[in-house]
Amino acid sequence: MRAVVKLGGALFRRDPDVTALKEMGKVLEGFVAEGNQLVLVAGGGENARTYISAARKLGAEESTCDLLGIQITRANAELLRLALGSIASSKIPTALSDLPHCVGSGKAVVMGGLQPGQSTSAVAALAAEITRAEILVNGTDVEGVYTEDPKKNPKAKLIRSVHVDKLLNWAMSGEVFAGRYELLDPLAIKIMQRARIATRFVSLRDSGNILDALQGKDIGTRVLYS
Ligand code: UTP
Repeated sequence: MRAVVKLGGALFRRDPDVTALKEMGKVLEGFVAEGNQLVLVAGGGENARTYISAARKLGAEESTCDLLGIQITRANAELLRLALGSIASSKIPTALSDLPHCVGSGKAVVMGGLQPGQSTSAVAALAAEITRAEILVNGTDVEGVYTEDPKKNPKAKLIRSVHVDKLLNWAMSGEVFAGRYELLDPLAIKIMQRARIATRFVSLRDSGNILDALQGKDIGTRVLYS
């Protein structure tokens, strides 16, 4: 199977949680050992937001803030690569065009951001499209897609499946500032829509969720295309 997994900011604490990173590595080890092709995309997390906010206060434009965010995602990708040990490829691709050459080595490929104006969810969608992934798992700090922002309204309900057009409508109404992408990045949804990528949003609170989603278990929120 060919898979792409986005590991969001929830895994990358301000003080990096080495135990959580190693646990994630262990969970994914078996999947790679079974011969599956895996691309992992690291998010920026709290450190990206901290640096972006400092740069903004210093007068940086949004694209400079984005570039700073990208650097942090790549630093997170490096930590993840180290946590994965021998199952990870040593090169972190920094251009999408490099990715097809990196996969297929039998090792997991780890990457961070690519270019300003998007989030790592868009990177994950582009990676899934270019590697013809059969599944994209988006690991986040909530259980999936909700009727409202569950951090703002505790009564928000988890949606078990949602049509891509509806997702795109929601995403288009959100903000697109550096460090401020919520669960839904419009570009990510657009790429998912055009490539009809089988996608599931799941929580990173339990590292086993990622494996469950890769194995086709019905958890989190599934994206529908018809
Ligand atoms: P993300 O916003 O994707 O990381 O990247 P995150 O906060 O870990 O993601 P979630 O919230 O858990 O899903 C951090 C920032 O880096 C810049 C953007 O400013 C983004 O908000 N970035 C990242 C880019 O500009 N381009 C990229 O390709 C990736």
